[in-house]
Amino acid sequence: MERRLQKALVREKAVVETQRLFLSVTSHDFRTPLTIIDGAARRIGRMAGADSPIAERAAAIRATARRMAQAIDRTLGWSSIAEGKVAFHPELADIGPMVEKAVANQRALHPDRAFSVELGELPALLLDAGLIERSLDNLLSNAVKYSPAGAGVDVRCVRRGKRVELSVSDHGIGVPEADMRRMFTRFFRAGNTRGTKGTGIGLNAVKFYMGLHGGKVALRSVEGEGSTFTLSFPIK
Ligand SMILES: Nc1ncnc2c1ncn2[C@@H]1O[C@H](COP(=O)(O)OP(=O)(O)OP(=O)(O)O)[C@@H](O)[C@H]1O
Ligand SMILES: [Mg+2]
Repeated sequence: MERRLQKALVREKAVVETQRLFLSVTSHDFRTPLTIIDGAARRIGRMAGADSPIAERAAAIRATARRMAQAIDRTLGWSSIAEGKVAFHPELADIGPMVEKAVANQRALHPDRAFSVELGELPALLLDAGLIERSLDNLLSNAVKYSPAGAGVDVRCVRRGKRVELSVSDHGIGVPEADMRRMFTRFFRAGNTRGTKGTGIGLNAVKFYMGLHGGKVALRSVEGEGSTFTLSFPIK
């Protein structure tokens, strides 16, 4: 009896853990597009000039995006527990346009940054476009966030044998040697990130999404010099 109870408890704990992971991944991923909407509205407002009707509407968009972010935080907050799982719908697709789109998003958000993109000859891959977009948003926004203003970000996607490798490189603060091992652990933030806001969820989500694709994410970094995150996809 006691053993059965203990087993049930262990099972219950695992379920709760899975739900927590889902919720943290989901709320982060709802927030990323909202950040993009907010950034675009801010620029539209600026371009339109103060007191114009367009600026007024842009301000309304921004206020609504903020309200929505708050609602997401409330309902999908860390403490709340609900049923759910991440839907994974892979289709044979070209990754090139997905990379171009993700970089275009970041260019719009950070017009002062130089993003370079290099795409090799690539076979079609089994991809969930939505999850790939979120993964790239996470890596690209990190590259910008953890490097000085004006530093470039280089994106490269090439075939290597039976795999396609997509790397995002920056010339930023890098990762302290001692922290490398824990970089993909949920809620972990490296010791050299003081002054930047973050939750330590993005990279864990990327790892989770790559796992669904049967792929991997790897990191090479030298503190003070820069980092390269590489997504590696199997070719079917
Ligand atoms: N390009 C990078 N250069 C240096 N450190 C990085 C880079 N990307 C991630 N990190 C480190 O990894 C940690 C985890 O990154 P992750 O994206 O998961 O979380 P975050 O950026 O802190 O917050 P958020 O969940 O909002 O993305 C960061 O806090 C930072 O210490
Ligand atoms: Mg991040």
